[in-house]
Amino acid sequence: MAYLLGIDIGTSGTKTVLFTETGETVASALSEYPLYQPKNGWAEQEPLDWWNAVCETCKKVLAGIHPGEVKGVGLSGQMHGLVMLDKEDRVIRPSIIWCDQRTEAECVQITQTVGAKRLIEITANPALTGFTASKILWVQNHEPWNYEKAVKIMLPKDYIRYMLTGEFATEVSDASGMQLLDVPNRCWSDEILSKLNIDKSLLPKVYESQEISGKVSASASLLTGLAAGTPVVGGGGDQAAGAVGNGIVREGIVSCTLGSSGVVFASTDRVQIDPQGRVHTFCHAIPNTWHVMGVTQGAGLSLKWFRDNFCTEEKAVADRMHTDPYILMDKMAAALPVGSEGLLWLPYLMGERTPHLDPNCRGVFFGLSAIHTKAHLTRAVMEGVAFSQTDCIEIIREMGISVQEVRASGGGSKSPLWRQMLADCFNSEICAISSSEGPALGAAILAGAGTGIYAGVAEGCDIAVKKKDSLAPDAANVKIYAGYYDLYRKLYPALKESFNTLAGLLK
Ligand code: XUL
Repeated sequence: MAYLLGIDIGTSGTKTVLFTETGETVASALSEYPLYQPKNGWAEQEPLDWWNAVCETCKKVLAGIHPGEVKGVGLSGQMHGLVMLDKEDRVIRPSIIWCDQRTEAECVQITQTVGAKRLIEITANPALTGFTASKILWVQNHEPWNYEKAVKIMLPKDYIRYMLTGEFATEVSDASGMQLLDVPNRCWSDEILSKLNIDKSLLPKVYESQEISGKVSASASLLTGLAAGTPVVGGGGDQAAGAVGNGIVREGIVSCTLGSSGVVFASTDRVQIDPQGRVHTFCHAIPNTWHVMGVTQGAGLSLKWFRDNFCTEEKAVADRMHTDPYILMDKMAAALPVGSEGLLWLPYLMGERTPHLDPNCRGVFFGLSAIHTKAHLTRAVMEGVAFSQTDCIEIIREMGISVQEVRASGGGSKSPLWRQMLADCFNSEICAISSSEGPALGAAILAGAGTGIYAGVAEGCDIAVKKKDSLAPDAANVKIYAGYYDLYRKLYPALKESFNTLAGLLK
């Protein structure tokens, strides 16, 4: 039997999944780890937590099969995180991850040093707090003693590659999110690196996503249970890999992924840039293709925050019933009318990317009344995320990118209620994919393409990605949501200045 392994180093945990060649899940394991928030707007994780989770989950999914039957490994991971190693291969400081917002000043520095127009020409994006370049500059500016020690700079999944294979490598889709890549030409930009004073030797070799980048080493074999010599392909940033796992490999099919962040993702055959920088343009995980994506910073993150802080009771009941607290929260929310009886949520817990590009905005419940209950707040959180994802899809439509089909994925899409909200807010049919493994499946497909099991990535998707049910928009809901969405869009401009004042008070 031939198997493919996909490893996704996520924000809440690492998920490792063993697949057949036709994309069926054989075994899946998840191991969670903490997110540290030393200050308001900061977010860090420990790279060794990721590695321990990879070892644990690999061992679990490989139990019962012969490791030699795994023909290839694909890696996917949370994007943009900064991992720095010293000359002894020790992690220098905790990783500053994608949703960290501390680098506003460094973004100004990047824009001034490179020039706004040139930055977009080369990296296809304006300077953003989420991206790695500004995090590197933050360490240069605030912790020069740590920067001096760094001999290798890498992204989260590439740290795992280094631990698995000893190879210092990355691939184009994740590297695009560092803001050091020449995105149209798919290689490091000497101009950006020299202007930002970053030595190229600190950066890994760049592969295409399906290319073999290394082989599992003997020492990693002992820790993971994988056979030494198993090929590890480039893989992809979680969004690109997730898109492959949803079959988003041709223009016209768009995905909406509700993970910690929420992402609307479209594949394009040429580099397409929103001049206002409200959506990101990155290399896709398929040679000669790119993608455009709009990002809600706090999608699943909003609901998780709400669950962890306000749904202790639901968590306890779910424990007793051996079910998931989100299922109980879904039931509470589903019993209420569309629009949560006049309550809106702005999901800006960690600032916002699309469409505001604002690290200082924060979450808001708007319209709270004494009639509102915890159920209303739950529903409003889900609806607020759906509105924010509508912002993303509207910009993609505005750019002239065709949206013929929307595929929902990510943990949040398991909720039929949340999927219906998306269908109603987008006024578009939403279909689901039969595998719920998203990025892990995409990473495994990339491994299949790189090791010759599939003729290419798109061909692998044709074999391994299967569509399931689809939900149509409800005409009555579409109308009500249109009214609420209009109001939602007016709230951020009304609060923008107040968010800045608040940020000033916190300094
Ligand atoms: C994409 C992004 C998130 C993270 C975490 O730009 O920041 O999707 O990769 O999932």
